[in-house]
Parts: sequence; C-alpha cells; structure tokens
Amino acid sequence: MSRSGKVSVIGAGFYGSTTAMRLAEYDMFETVVLTDVVDGKAEGLALDMNQSRPIEKFETKIIGQTTTADGSGYEAIKGSNIVVITAGLPRKPGMSRMDLIETNAKIVRQVSENVAKHAPDAVVIVVSNPLDEMTALAQLATGFPKNKVMGQAGMLDTARFSNFVAEKTGSDINDVKTLTLGSHGETMVPVPSQSSVKGKMLSDVLLKADIDSLVDRTRNGGAEVVALLKTGSAYYAPSAAAARMAKAVITNSGEVMPVCAWVDGEFGISGVYLGVEAEIGSNGINKVVETKLSEDELNNLKIAAEAVRAKQADVKDL
Ligand code: NAI
Ligand code: 2OP
Repeated sequence: MSRSGKVSVIGAGFYGSTTAMRLAEYDMFETVVLTDVVDGKAEGLALDMNQSRPIEKFETKIIGQTTTADGSGYEAIKGSNIVVITAGLPRKPGMSRMDLIETNAKIVRQVSENVAKHAPDAVVIVVSNPLDEMTALAQLATGFPKNKVMGQAGMLDTARFSNFVAEKTGSDINDVKTLTLGSHGETMVPVPSQSSVKGKMLSDVLLKADIDSLVDRTRNGGAEVVALLKTGSAYYAPSAAAARMAKAVITNSGEVMPVCAWVDGEFGISGVYLGVEAEIGSNGINKVVETKLSEDELNNLKIAAEAVRAKQADVKDL
C-alpha cells in the first residue's frame, strides 16, 4: 500500500490523541505528527501509538513533539498537508461551549500563527470550541484562504442524530441517513426533511413528537456526554469525524460532508462560517452545497448564521 502526506494534530488531549490514532490506523499517511504544550505528553503518546503498529499492522509513523508558547517545536509540522487544531480546554458540566471563548481564543490564535509560519500550504481543520468562532479565528490568524480553513461539527452532530434515530427505530445504522447543519451550539439545525430510514422519510417512520425529541437530544448531544463524564467532553465520535474530514482532504475525494465552512451567498447567507454541507478535496472546501431545506429549516439556518456572525465579529479582538 502506498502512503503519502503528512497530517499534524495540535493538542494531544483526548480529542487530539484519538484523532492521531485513527489517522495512523488508516495507514494512508506517511507521517502523523502530534503536538502539545505539556512537556513529554505528545512524545509519550506517540511512542505508545507506534508500539501498536506491530499489532494493528500499520506503517504510518507517529511523531510526538512538545511545543512552547514562543513557538519552538513547531518545526515538526513543516510540510503538513493537513493540520487539525484540537488545542484548548473542553467544557465542564453546566458550562456552554461559549464559556470557553476567551481562553480558547488565545490558544487557537497562538497555534494558528505557528501553523501559518511552519505549514503555510496546509488545509486546517478546527475542532476547538466554541467551534464556529474558533474556525473564524483560525482563518483570521493564519491568513489562509477561506476554503482552506474549515471546522468539524456537522459530521459529529449528524452522527449523533443518526445514532439516536437508529436506536429509536431499531434500525441498522447503515440504513439511517440524517443531516445536521447550523452552529455547533444552541442554534444547531438538525434537518429531518433530509433524514430517512431505509429510504423512507423520517416523518413516515416516526411520530412528530418523537422526531422533535430526537432533534432536541441531538442539540444537547455534547452536553449529555459532558454531564455523564463529569470531567472533559466527548472524543470517540468527534475524533472519527475529524479523521474522516482529513481523509477526504488527503484523498481529494470530493465527498459531500456537513462541515463548518465559509458561506458566501449560498442560502441567501453571506460572510460567515456556518455548518453547511460542502464538497471536500485537497484544497479544503471545493464548494458549499445548497441542500434543499424546508421553510422552517432554512429560517433556522438563517437564525444560526446571525447568531454566530455576531460572535465571529468579536473574535478578532480576543
Ligand atoms: P483535553 O483537555 O483532553 O485536551 C486539550 C489539550 O490541548 C491538552 O492536552 C492541552 O495541554 C493542549 N493545549 C492547550 N494549549 C495548547 C497550545 N497552546 N498548544 C498545543 N496544545 C495545547 O480536551 P479535548 O477533549 O481533547 O478537547 C479539545 C477541544 O476540542 C476542546 O476545546 C473541546 O471543547 C473541543 N471539542 C470540540 C468538538 C467538536 O465537535 N468541534 C467535540 C469535542 C470536543
Ligand atoms: C461536543 O459536542 C463538547 O463540542 C463538544 O461533544
């Protein structure tokens, strides 16, 4: 099997380390780099991951690297095709993602500036929260073209919706198709009109009250996990989502995925990073897809756009 390319994951916490492991196990990349500011953490995790290679039989090498506030260590990400930014605090029970904005903005700005310096050709996938705002900030701080910076949220929120529908209907997960757009926050927009089970519209297989309750559970999907864990947030489904996005970039697959992308006129919305469906390739976002939405869903997407627009305008000063 031929392997090519380099992907760097910034932040070796739960999200970053599980993402690095998934990317390495794809056995597609030449190198996966994992970095963190905690001395030795990334190196230790990389050593452990490399020792799983004889068991799982993959050749991709994982390199761990400690970085410092002044940017030393970032040479390790040189030549990356893709950088996944997971650095930042997760929320605690009772906190909203927005409560993280000031702390994580400082981290994401510092990381992004170093990414721009050491990996100027990379496609950037942001996962740090609050997601829509941190994606906008990463684009500002890197100065990269808007198509080369995207955020991960829609893949995760859609997966949560699909899992809830599969459980409720007793269906195989592969028979379920759902979609979630909008923000990765209170104005998330699950899209029942584009959701189906074995090709049947969701409204033909579930009562409206049941659909409404699954939509609510999806909107609160992150908080539900946080409340159970009590410390930290979800990372298995989130890392699967970010890794799939990176795979779509490195293979130039042209897959259409729900991601946080720059919207410039689509849906009658302009000038904002928002959760939409987009075609992904080696340059990041090839194009935003104007998914057919019901009138209510479109209105909710516009409400989400205005909610994140206001916050995204603030991040330039953080
Ligand atoms: P974590 O606390 O396990 O890991 C965060 C890591 O970032 C730590 O190892 C920390 O040392 C590191 N870090 C802090 N400042 C850094 C810097 N300047 N450079 C490099 N590394 C730095 O948290 P976890 O669970 O990994 O979550 C990471 C972020 O992802 C959080 O902001 C969380 O809210 C977000 N998240 C986003 C999701 C999404 O769907 N977009 C889903 C789940 C989590
Ligand atoms: C999640 O949705 C906390 O954003 C994180 O799990």
